[in-house]
Formats: sequence, C-alpha cells, structure tokens
Amino acid sequence: MSAVPATPRGRAAVIAGVGGYVPPNVVTNDDLAARLDTSDEWIRSRTGIAARNVVSPGTATSDLAVEAGRRALESAGVAEAGAVVLATTTPDRPCPATAPEVASRLGLGGAAAFDIASVCSGFLYALAVGAGLIATGVAERVLVVGADAFTTIIDPQDRGTAVIFADGAGAVVLRAGEPTEAGVVGTVVLGSDGARSDLIEVPGGGSRHRSSHAATGDGADLGDPYFRMRGRETYRHAVERMTSASRQAAAAAGWDVSRDVDRFAAHQANARILAAVADRLGVRPQRRLSNIEQVGNTGAASVPLLLAEATAAGALTAGHRLLLTAFGGGLAWGATALVWPDVKAG
Ligand code: COA
Repeated sequence: MSAVPATPRGRAAVIAGVGGYVPPNVVTNDDLAARLDTSDEWIRSRTGIAARNVVSPGTATSDLAVEAGRRALESAGVAEAGAVVLATTTPDRPCPATAPEVASRLGLGGAAAFDIASVCSGFLYALAVGAGLIATGVAERVLVVGADAFTTIIDPQDRGTAVIFADGAGAVVLRAGEPTEAGVVGTVVLGSDGARSDLIEVPGGGSRHRSSHAATGDGADLGDPYFRMRGRETYRHAVERMTSASRQAAAAAGWDVSRDVDRFAAHQANARILAAVADRLGVRPQRRLSNIEQVGNTGAASVPLLLAEATAAGALTAGHRLLLTAFGGGLAWGATALVWPDVKAG
C-alpha cells in the first residue's frame, strides 16, 4: 500500500490584504430615538455608539461580503483565491451557504467555499480555518470574510438590541508563506460554552422551532424569529472571556500584554466592554483601536472592518504587534497575536 502524500510542511498563512465595507445608509441615535423609547445620551453612555450603517431592503449579506472581499483582493494585488471562508450570522438564506455565491460573484468560481456560524467570534474562527486550509494544502490563497446584515434579524421594537447591532463586512486575504514573515497567523485561541447558548440566540427558524414556512404539524411552536440577547449577563461573559483568551494568545506569542502589544483590536461589542477588557489587560488607551462610535456592533464583520479602517487611517501600520480578540453567541470566543504586515487597505 502506498503512503498518502504528506501535506506541505512548515507552510504558514500570511495576511496579504485587508478590506472593509459598510452600506451607505447611516442611522443616528436620534433616528432610533424617534421611534423607540431611548435617547442619544442613553445609547452613547451605555454603548459608546453614535451612529451605524444599515442595509436597505433588498441588500443582503453577500452584497456586503462581495464589496469587502473585492477590496481585500485589491489590497493584496491578486484576483485569485482557492478558498472563501465566510463568517456570518445572517446568511442570505438558510441553505445553501452564502460563501459560494460570494466566491462566484468575485470571479473565484470553483473555489472551496463555505460559511462559519460563530456569531460575533466568527472572524477569528474563520481566520483559524483559513490558516488551516493553507497548512493542509487545500489552497495557496484564502479569502476570509466576516459579514453581517445584522439589522435584518433585529426586532425593531427591542431597544436592547436595536441600538447596538449594525451592518457591514470586512475581509483579509491569506497566502501561503514562511513562518517567520510579518503577518503570519500564529496560535489562534478558540473556545465555547454551549451551556449558555440562551444568552444570545435566534430561537426560531431552525430544527428546534421550525420556521412558519416549514411543515410544522399541529400545535408546533414556531419560535421567535428575532435575535435575542440577555444584555447584562452577556456583558459579564464578554469581559471575562475576551480577557482570558487575550492573555492566552499573548502568552502563546511570548508577549507581555501591557509591555509588548502595540495595538489591541477587540470585537466592537460595546465601548464599555472594550474598556473593561483593555483595562484588565493593561493595554494603554492610545493602543486601543476602536470604530464602534461610528459603526456599532457589526457582528462577524467587526474585527476585520476595524483592521481595514485602522489600516486606512494609519492607526495600524507595518510592524505593530497586534492582539485580536472576539466574543459572541455560542457562547464562543477567540484571540490571536500577530505582527501586522505591510499592507494598504483596499
Ligand atoms: N434605551 C433606554 N433604556 C434602555 C435601553 C435603551 N436602548 N435598553 C435597555 N434600557 C433600559 C432597560 O429596560 C432597563 O430599564 P429598567 O431598569 O426600567 O428595567 C435599564 O435600561 C437597564 O437595563 P439593562 O439591560 O440592565 O442595562 P445595561 O446597563 O446592562 O445596558 C446593554 C444594556 C444592552 C447596553 C448592556 O447590557 C450591554 O451592553 N450588554 C452587552 C451587549 C453586547 O455587547 N453584546 C454583544 C456581545 S457580542
């Protein structure tokens, strides 16, 4: 019996491009206060959010993902990728995955393409998977996208979520490279706690509570079709999990967080959560990247959109030692440390 050919040894995944996109329609806190029992002051002081971008009816997650993906490919100076990994909580439809359509519309037809459902941690999960696709020889180049049209699953009357969640997309291109290069994706720390899946969920529309359009049988519970979050408990878990995952990722890189981290990019969940995590880690304020004031919480898009905007603004530059972390429904969380490469945002 002949041996199975070995996967390419020592191949690392290197970030080669980054891009972000938000839909043009801006909704301010005052816009929300005009239809909900809330205020600009309440939203700013509790979440740090002033405005957010929202899709128009008819615009779907794939539309956002295609724009961000196109920009990331331009940033990398390439037109080809052998795989597309899309992290999203708002696929265009329950079946099939959205990634194949994104690949096709980007001219990447034939690429391996699939979705990752890890809610707001999705980009870190997708980054780890993308790096794995390169390590195992599935692809030489991988487009990793985080995209969410979150407002399409928000209950417009639920002031606890309507003020926080928003729409957008971000993407990076990974290429096969050497383990010593800047931009190498190193150890990615990932974890989950399914015992608390009730904290962040869309109860209806799955196999437990079927959608109203599926065969339900007599007396079946259709379930709530909207995204629900228990804000206060979520807050506590988010702070604990992102702090501990960040410490693990920094330790794996041999970094002392307060001394060695030049830039800290956490999932833009809520400004108070970000401050609490960064304070616990000892990351100085000028080293914290944030765009939540203008874009809100964009789910799986949050981290790559932040990387794209910070790169475009010159706040994140080549050689910065960067710590990334995210937390979200699942519960699921992740973190990783890397040295930012010499890339221009697409
Ligand atoms: N405007 C005005 N009042 C609001 C409100 C809004 N948009 N949302 C909630 N409230 C009210 C509540 O009804 C409650 O009123 P009550 O005391 O009369 O019952 C009061 O404010 C406090 O509610 P609570 O949920 O305890 O507030 P909070 O200080 O925890 O802030 C969140 C609410 C949602 C901002 C906060 O819990 C939070 O940020 N959680 C984490 C959310 C997050 O980041 N999720 C993403 C993870 S990926």
